Formats: sequence, C-alpha cells, structure tokens
Amino acid sequence: MTVHSLFPTLVYAAALQSGDSRKFNRQLLKECRQLRLDDAAGRRWSLENYPGGYTSYASVHRLQSISPTFESLRRKLERHITAFAAAVEWDLAARELQMTDCWINIMPRHTVHSLHLHPHSTLSGTYYVQVPRGSPGTKFEDPRLDRFMAAPPRKATAGRNARPWVTFPAAAGQLLLFESWLRHEVAPNSVNAERISVSFNYNWF
Ligand code: NI
Repeated sequence: MTVHSLFPTLVYAAALQSGDSRKFNRQLLKECRQLRLDDAAGRRWSLENYPGGYTSYASVHRLQSISPTFESLRRKLERHITAFAAAVEWDLAARELQMTDCWINIMPRHTVHSLHLHPHSTLSGTYYVQVPRGSPGTKFEDPRLDRFMAAPPRKATAGRNARPWVTFPAAAGQLLLFESWLRHEVAPNSVNAERISVSFNYNWF
C-alpha cells in the first residue's frame, strides 16, 4: 500500500545573500522612508487601502526601474528566482521570468495586510528589510480550502503539510517566493515599531 502526496504548493525561503545584508538593508530603508515622504499619491491610496501604513503598490510600483538600489535587489534575486522555477519544474524554454513590479510596504503598529493574492502575475515574493522583534510573519492559506466542504478539522498536532494555514516568521535579510495564486496575509503588527518589506511580481509572458 502506498499513500501518494500530489500537487504540492511550494514556498521558497532563503537569505538574500550569503554575506551580511545589514549595509544593503540600511540603504533600502533610507529609500523606503524617503519614498514615503515624496509619494503623496501613495500616502493617499494607503489611507484608504492600508490604514495606518504606507505602500507604494498603487503609485510607485516599478522601483527596479527608477532606483539603482532596487535594481541591485532585482539582480540579487535572480539566482533565487531561477532556483524556485527549477523546483516548480516550469518549462521556460525560450521564455524568461521578468520582474514586472517591485514596491514597498511599511507597517507600523496595528497595520494589517489582509488576505490576498497577486493577480496577473506568475511568481511573487517578499524581501524583509526591517523586522522588529515580535512583528508578524507571512501566513499562507491552503489553496484548496474552498473545496474542503465536509472535511473534518485537522488535529491540533497535525504536521505542517496537513495544516490549512502556515505562518513563516519574518526576519531582515530573508526572502520568500511563491506562486502568485497562493493567498497570504500579514496579521496586525502588535509591536510599536515599523515592519518594512519589499514585495515583487514576476511574469513569463
Ligand atoms: Ni502579497
């Protein structure tokens, strides 16, 4: 008898670079804070859509095209993107995954990033720039949850593979990659300090 495990959902976690990322993060942090000051349209959008926080998602969302620092982040991400694409076994012959969008998210205390996915994209991810101790990780939802119908709840002791939600802790210098259809959220930040991350989308067509 064999019980097979089919249709895996892959989440890639890694350090962005092998050396110390603090210097690079300091520069990113400086630019994130400067952009929040400069981007009035983004602040207005965030008031309505990201209460208490700031995101450049709807205003300045191609940072890799306008900042050498974010272009440097794009280059540092390349080997991770290649490794994730290999793990998923995408056939990208004569095609290339390209970064389409790259934006910042600043979450002060009480700001929440509610459950969402990234439409019109193939691969998405987040790089953590500043993560105060005790601020939330990124929580992923089982993509089959809407089909569970009469499925019993899972045991409290269920392994990570069998749980309907899994939270990956956040840490500065670390990144996550996942397929863009995978729903995720960030719980309210309960600590009195800003959790700052850079998110990005890739497409293959
Ligand atoms: Ni997201």
